[in-house]
Amino acid sequence: MPSQRPLRQKDLLGLRGVPREQLVRILDVAAGFRQVNERRIKKVPTLRGRTVVTAFFENSTRTRLSFELAAKRLSADTLSFSASTSSTTKGETLLDTARTLDAMRPDAVIVRHPASGAPHLLAKHFPWTVINAGDGINEHPTQALLDMLTMRDHLGDLQGRTVAIVGDVLHSRVARSNIFGLQTLGARVVVAGPGTMCPPALAELGVEVRHRIDEVVEEADVIMMLRIQRERLGRAMMSSTEEYAALYGLDERRLARAQAHTLVMHPGPINRGVEISPEVADGPRSVILEQVSNGLAVRMALMYLLLGDEGGGDAAA
Ligand code: NCD
Repeated sequence: MPSQRPLRQKDLLGLRGVPREQLVRILDVAAGFRQVNERRIKKVPTLRGRTVVTAFFENSTRTRLSFELAAKRLSADTLSFSASTSSTTKGETLLDTARTLDAMRPDAVIVRHPASGAPHLLAKHFPWTVINAGDGINEHPTQALLDMLTMRDHLGDLQGRTVAIVGDVLHSRVARSNIFGLQTLGARVVVAGPGTMCPPALAELGVEVRHRIDEVVEEADVIMMLRIQRERLGRAMMSSTEEYAALYGLDERRLARAQAHTLVMHPGPINRGVEISPEVADGPRSVILEQVSNGLAVRMALMYLLLGDEGGGDAAA
């Protein structure tokens, strides 16, 4: 078991403003938890008797499965709520759903919601730990943590490394959390995509904004490709899928310009043949499935640090 001190806070809502030491501690604890997932009996008693609810008001495969499995591997009782099969479809509000969850006395609620700020609202009104599993276009902190752990595995210290985030950055909570976390760890972040998805205003986040992917492929240590968030696009933001793939998709020809050590990442779900070609997604530089495995370890680490017996939960930041 990792012996690091718990986080002295109740919730994890985002990576903006989270200090470097705290990020490094979460990543170190996550790296320690990986060995539990390699054992024959993949379970530790850390959260025995505690209740973790996953409340997903938006679809998910990886994030939800890995939060559930992480809680189970820590011996917590798990409940899962999904908007599409719940009374949300009968018009129940977020706060009324949360009051119902509260009546069951959970210790932690993992929230994904289409509205930016929804987890913050719950964290303010309820005593349980809230972990943001993606809120609208705002943040997806656990995804960025697992991304940073994967990068650190391959590149070591991220200080001075260049991470290129390519595609629909404007609507990506994954991009925002990575931008905040990576900058705290000293990395340089370059974003690239069409002007409608990568507007100049993104420079306010401290990133360099480019519009040609070829420029960034050559200098990047990491190329993170993003899915076009069609569900969040208010209006047509690209002319056609073919044109998007030709201008911004990562294929083998384009990747041939990258440095030998450059990693290819994607948070999933991938749209093969749009932002990433099948050969690149399944190719030797792709660490997409390592990202998924690291997601489990990061989520175990966070629940351990926020809920573990040694503290947390009582000293809300
Ligand atoms: C992302 C999300 O939901 O924000 N996926 C994930 O959590 N792995 C990215 C996406 O949906 O494109």
